[in-house]
Amino acid sequence: MTLTARRTAPVQPTTHCARSGRAERVHAAPVPAGPLLPIVGAGSPVPLVTGAERPYANLDYAASAPPLQAVADHVDELLPYYASVHRGAGYASQVCTRVYEGARAAVAEFVDARSDDVVVFTRNTTDALNLLAGCVPAGGEVVVLDIEHHANLLPWRHRRVVEAAATLERTLARVEAELARRPAALLAVTGTSNVTGEQLPLGLLSRIAHRHGARIAVDAAQLVPHRRIDLVASQVDYLAFSGHKLYAPWGAGALVGRRDWLDEAPPYLAGGGAVREVGLDEVRWTSAPARHEGGSPNVVGVAALARACQVIGALPEGSLEAHESALRRRLLAGLGDVPGVQVHRIWPDSSSAVGVVAFSVRGYAPGHVAAYLSAEHAVGVRDGKFCAHPLAARLGFPDGALRASFGLATTADDVDRLVTGIDTLVRNGTNWSYDVVDGRYEPVPDPRPWPEWVPSDVGPVTRGCQPGT
Ligand SMILES: Cc1ncc(COP(=O)(O)O)c(C=O)c1O
Repeated sequence: MTLTARRTAPVQPTTHCARSGRAERVHAAPVPAGPLLPIVGAGSPVPLVTGAERPYANLDYAASAPPLQAVADHVDELLPYYASVHRGAGYASQVCTRVYEGARAAVAEFVDARSDDVVVFTRNTTDALNLLAGCVPAGGEVVVLDIEHHANLLPWRHRRVVEAAATLERTLARVEAELARRPAALLAVTGTSNVTGEQLPLGLLSRIAHRHGARIAVDAAQLVPHRRIDLVASQVDYLAFSGHKLYAPWGAGALVGRRDWLDEAPPYLAGGGAVREVGLDEVRWTSAPARHEGGSPNVVGVAALARACQVIGALPEGSLEAHESALRRRLLAGLGDVPGVQVHRIWPDSSSAVGVVAFSVRGYAPGHVAAYLSAEHAVGVRDGKFCAHPLAARLGFPDGALRASFGLATTADDVDRLVTGIDTLVRNGTNWSYDVVDGRYEPVPDPRPWPEWVPSDVGPVTRGCQPGT
């Protein structure tokens, strides 16, 4: 793995106190009262440590989004027909095979894919990017920025990292210089920072990559839940995303893009379904997408993902953007009035951002604030380094920050509850005691009841992303 870092003075963490209003307009804006689309469980009551109940203010959509009602309904109508895909002559098998294969067209349409692009179903974005990493032609180098989620940093075998500069404009110039310096097979960038919500100019980045003979892959995990992407117009070559961030949490994701690399690469998962013919000494692999989908496919996940693509794709043009930017302005305006709150940004000149906002509260560990918001205000946010450790370090919060993220069912009330919670904390402190238990802040005691079907004793909670990561 090659690490080509442009050695410059470290970028000053481009943090921005929302109060100053320099980098983004932060006037509170009217927000539609209700959800843009019905979401399962939206606003359901959850317990507080006081014994009261409040509607859950889910401000953690960027981590994983609950299902759209339309997606859950579709899964319900599919389940009675659940059967094997591709392998059965039975009626139910035929239904599932049609649903599975038909889903490719829905996903392709959602991202305006080219007619000869391939849609490969994966488990999630991480899986899709690992698959693509195995398809980069032998020895091909991959240029990435240091602001990426680990899923777009770690899979690449021959990686060259470009440090983001103090402005987006200068960052793009660095990317261009790096591609000009030595050929690369691929430029792999995020569509939207999972930490700050800032968007990258994908059309421009595609032109830069292509000018220097590289292809471009976009980690769209945080992009497709918030914005339309058009592969034809943007000229992006590969796109990876996850169903569970797109209101279809049944375990499927997708890699969409150019066929040639996918057809020439070794199968991602060797096994049944990926082959044309097998002898004991020789195998003839099939072409993509089946080449990379060995084993029994996740038809329920894929059906859910496809339905989410159809429902979200049918939203009126600009409605999602308007909903989110009103919420974002409201949150920034609210946090800007609370002393000691710092909102994090990568660049002062990034012109658009989705509904993802990272911030810190002076004097409080992020995990403490997140536990307090949950226990005393029924607000769910993420704390930690958001699986983007290099970026967290650059932005000046190596020990983590808080992140609020919006979705289709977020309301102005959810945002106001977060702002009120932070304001109360800063002015009055907490009303309960908190302690670190198994590496994570928890209310002590925590009298909140669990639903009776939740296991009462799970031992120390283990996480892929450990507390604070
Ligand atoms: C920008 C970005 N890329 C990739 C991922 C990984 O997604 P998944 O866990 O679904 O593979 C995430 C998850 O948070 C993300 O935010």
